[in-house]
Amino acid sequence: MKTAIITGASAGMGREFALHALRIFPEIECFWLIARREGRLKELAGDLGGKKVVCMSLDLCDEQSFDVLEEKLRDDKPEIALLINNAGCGYLGNVGETPVDWQTRMTKLNVTALTAVTSLCVPYMARGGHIVNVSSIASFCPNPRMTVYSSTKSYVSAFTRGIREELRAKGVTATAVCPGPMDTEFIEVGKIKGHSKTFDILPYCDPSSVAEGTLLSAKEGRAFYTPKAFYKLYKFVAKVTPQALMVKFTKT
Ligand SMILES: NC(=O)c1ccc[n+]([C@@H]2O[C@H](COP(=O)([O-])OP(=O)(O)OC[C@H]3O[C@@H](n4cnc5c(N)ncnc54)[C@H](OP(=O)(O)O)[C@@H]3O)[C@@H](O)[C@H]2O)c1
Repeated sequence: MKTAIITGASAGMGREFALHALRIFPEIECFWLIARREGRLKELAGDLGGKKVVCMSLDLCDEQSFDVLEEKLRDDKPEIALLINNAGCGYLGNVGETPVDWQTRMTKLNVTALTAVTSLCVPYMARGGHIVNVSSIASFCPNPRMTVYSSTKSYVSAFTRGIREELRAKGVTATAVCPGPMDTEFIEVGKIKGHSKTFDILPYCDPSSVAEGTLLSAKEGRAFYTPKAFYKLYKFVAKVTPQALMVKFTKT
């Protein structure tokens, strides 16, 4: 059964990905929705036009969740047509001045879980399959006060570039999306609201348009998708400017 697996589907972009996937990938017959809040996943399941839905309440910061996913994959043997590694978090604050748990939660969720979920899913993907990894404009250059977050997103972009090449012969594509700020729970969870002038002045992206643009880019087999001309320009500037200089201006 052609299946989409979406992490972080209970809110924000994850929910938008599921809704847009219905139209952009109509061949998908089944959705596996992963996040901690099962009630939210069940709510979303009701909006997925009668498709078969599996709600998996998993804490991806807990490595035991990888065993649960592995077992479910082994039992069901789905054909994964679309894997969306969307779950992520970003905490504001200097390393050493904020709880260690905030910093390690970002590496666990944004890096370890994304790597583990992809490793588990790839064997179930066939020619024509797509992987979408949610990166960020933070991947373009380190952001002091969100040093760990920006480092994790650099990993996501580099991982996407590498695995895309590994999977070329198999006929599976990988796409990373690099959005700017979006008004989702992310801002509240990461203690960003009211504490970052940068987040106050940057143009915001609309999660629904970003999800739609990302899935269309994935369908075309593109490696990266950066929404908004402003952030495309930022990506270019970050590429041609020495990072030692850039980092003086990229504090969050
Ligand atoms: N919002 C922004 O400004 C922004 C900008 C650029 C990139 N991004 C990236 O976009 C992606 C989606 O973020 P969003 O803005 O949609 O944020 P969000 O609204 O906070 O959604 C995050 C999702 O991840 C899930 N999640 C969090 N911790 C988890 C855990 N331990 N285990 C399993 N699931 C977990 C949440 O569900 P539960 O709480 O139910 O577990 C939720 O569904 C992230 O990768 C983020 O880094 C966001």
